[in-house]
Amino acid sequence: MVRFFLSLFLISSLFGYEYLIRFSHVVSPDTPKGKAVEYFAKRVEELSGGRIKVKVYPNGELAQDNVVIRKMLINNQVQMAAPSIAKFTSIVPELGVFDVPFLFKDEMHVRRVFDGDIGKRLLNRLSQEGYVALGYWSNGFKEITNNKRPIIYPQDIRGLKIRVMSSKILVEQYKALGAIAISMSFSRVYEALKNGYIDGEENTISTIYVEKFYKVQRYMTLTNHGYLGYIVVVSPDFWASLPDDLKKVIKKAFREATIKGRKWAIELNKRALKKLQKIAREGKFRIDYLTPEDRMRWKKIMIRKVYPKFYRVVGKKLIKEIMKLENVN
Ligand code: LMR
Repeated sequence: MVRFFLSLFLISSLFGYEYLIRFSHVVSPDTPKGKAVEYFAKRVEELSGGRIKVKVYPNGELAQDNVVIRKMLINNQVQMAAPSIAKFTSIVPELGVFDVPFLFKDEMHVRRVFDGDIGKRLLNRLSQEGYVALGYWSNGFKEITNNKRPIIYPQDIRGLKIRVMSSKILVEQYKALGAIAISMSFSRVYEALKNGYIDGEENTISTIYVEKFYKVQRYMTLTNHGYLGYIVVVSPDFWASLPDDLKKVIKKAFREATIKGRKWAIELNKRALKKLQKIAREGKFRIDYLTPEDRMRWKKIMIRKVYPKFYRVVGKKLIKEIMKLENVN
């Protein structure tokens, strides 16, 4: 450990910066999060006048999110990361509320929760567990892809092997629908879809497009059943080592990247849908769109079979509180 910090010190003095942030994430630089991280890195370097250098490690090059959350942030081997919220649920189970299917009406509903009192309370819970959490980033609503058949009705998913992020509650969700939920790290998903170890997965349209999942999947259903958001976290030791002026720089760059990232998430998901629709017209891929009645069928079954599991983990009160924010202007 001493040698590790000594080498960091030597590297930084050689290159003229005082602090090095290794920012680890698991997706491509072309995804909404990938772009937000790049922008954040650029702004931190500018605003700090070069005192902080940010080195971005995309595509899980450095490590998978679970290792980063459980070990590398705490040991200060990674200074920043932005794992999906679901991946924090083993630490703060209440964060599973963001995975409650059909709870969020639209992007604005999610933002009201991220930016309001509930969002703050949940970040505080993460701080109580020793994490320095700056806030939330957005990607969008998740869709379901698979290789076996078009999925229109909830029963169509029965028996399919669906990959989920490492979150017990996501596993429960698919189990309740009669599917076989397999949780695995993001970097293994493409190969697992290709070699048939899993039949399908859930992700946002931009991820399905940018990560080329459509090349190893035949069907995508626009379910918009759950939300994919992120929490940006900083290593507690690294944060403690920063002087106040540089903490302010990081917070400011984070706020700016959040605004840009929200815009990119919406734009990239729209653009990716157009690209996938074109591919579907060429006959290589099929997209199914749910009618409001179809969606209601999914929602009803989730409320009956899945919500009681969430009540136990995140509490009915919190779910109701979020429901109330659906139509606030
Ligand atoms: C996933 O594991 O499917 C996502 O969390 C990847 C990501 O970071 O968007």
